[in-house]
Amino acid sequence: MADKLIIFDTTLRDGEQSPGASMTKDEKIRIAKQLERLRVDVIEAGFAASSPGDFEAIKAIAGVIKDSTVCSLSRANEKDIARAAEALAPASRKRIHTFIATSPLHMEKKLRMTPEQVMEQAKAAVRFARGFTDDVEFSPEDGSRSDIDFLCRVLEAVIKEGATTINFADTVGYGVPELYGNMLKTLRERIPNSDKAIWSVHCHNDLGMAVANSLAGVKIGGARQVECTINGLGERAGNTALEEIVMAVKTRKDYFNLDLGIDTTQIVAASKLVSQITGFAVQPNKSVVGANAFAHASGIHQDGVLKARDTYEIMRAEDVGWTANKIVLGKLSGRNAFKQRLEELGLQLNSEAEVNAAFNRFKELADRKSEIFDEDIIAVVADEQQSGDKEYYRFVSLSQHSETGERPVSRVVFSIDGHESNCEAQGNGPVDATVNAIESKVASGCELLLFSVNAITTGTQSQGEVTMRLSKGGRIVNGIGADPDIVVASAKAYLSALNKLHSKVEKLNPQL
Ligand code: KIV
Ligand code: ZN
Repeated sequence: MADKLIIFDTTLRDGEQSPGASMTKDEKIRIAKQLERLRVDVIEAGFAASSPGDFEAIKAIAGVIKDSTVCSLSRANEKDIARAAEALAPASRKRIHTFIATSPLHMEKKLRMTPEQVMEQAKAAVRFARGFTDDVEFSPEDGSRSDIDFLCRVLEAVIKEGATTINFADTVGYGVPELYGNMLKTLRERIPNSDKAIWSVHCHNDLGMAVANSLAGVKIGGARQVECTINGLGERAGNTALEEIVMAVKTRKDYFNLDLGIDTTQIVAASKLVSQITGFAVQPNKSVVGANAFAHASGIHQDGVLKARDTYEIMRAEDVGWTANKIVLGKLSGRNAFKQRLEELGLQLNSEAEVNAAFNRFKELADRKSEIFDEDIIAVVADEQQSGDKEYYRFVSLSQHSETGERPVSRVVFSIDGHESNCEAQGNGPVDATVNAIESKVASGCELLLFSVNAITTGTQSQGEVTMRLSKGGRIVNGIGADPDIVVASAKAYLSALNKLHSKVEKLNPQL
């Protein structure tokens, strides 16, 4: 019988450490629910001690997720671990993931601790964590640059203390597949109690080898857990991409001979959701989830695929959740049809009031856009989920004038805490004029880090989805807006980002 490969998703923790990818609690819950639909085995929901915002998000996720284990990261100290345990209390299945650096460089320069102190702290942390749950993971940070003899001693000791998963971290993406896989193999061979733990790989993509290193850790090293993120999101060059690991193991079952619990048809939805919430676009030629991943442009390829699909396709687009743009609803569609489509798409709104509000948005859109695709419905729901009654700034209307040789002018009406406000400004272009108009009233003092526009579906009648990333006082937030008029979408995105900056409960991007 084939072994199972555990998929541990850390989009909400390591992925979120990517500057600019910080998410609100509600956004994290939406992603966690999609990860549960994807049937990942473990969701690392955050790092409880890093901020009150992270703590609350983990607690909320622990309360709603039933099928996946929910995990919190913690440094190897009692305060962090107790905080993780408190956040995880509502979870049906919980894991505490504790870590400490073991490489000479990190111990000496970062921790300023001797190897023996690190050893004692690692043991004490695992012992303490076992008091809260019998599912405890230990990571030697910068493991791949650690001394193998020391690593063997530490890992043997933490397994003795009750660590059930050992996660061999290539923290700085320094590994190369053969060496990384063999180092893990050596650890497992030399550590006498290595069979008492599940071995895991955790790789960063600094040299573009995170997926290759992880797979070498599985094949050569015998790892049975892979830590990964949707779209490979993560600090610097990112983490191992979940979709690539899953599809490699599934497509090459002949080679890996491993079973997965993942529902691969949910991959594209997860990718789109993470990209939409973080504003990190997926490159078109990205494996599995890029827009061109299954597109055949060359005549020879098209001809081959038409004759026999497997001439040029090793995976089926529909197996990872790609669907042809389908016109699903129109302006005559009623509330029941809308609600049913939400259910079919796995989109959950929290109350009937939210369904009604989303339905009204859909009706407004259908009045302006004759064909409504699934992607439009997803955008409508996302709009509703990120706004609602909690909006301090709310878009009302906009008129805009552009003419060759003239400076564009934008007039924006929006409400501030329920009071309507009119403003007007010029700019280099229509979006610049719109942002200038809003700023003439708000004077937020924030810096615009990113402005990106993306067509949600194909064709010029597509809605434009705009991301605005703003930074102020060390906080970075993303605002998203969708509309067939990209200037309106930009105004909505800008106001949505201002709403996040205005909300006091959000947190700083947690950096380790
Ligand atoms: O990259 C790393 O070392 C980590 C650990 C906390 C597992 O993210
Ligand atoms: Zn990491």
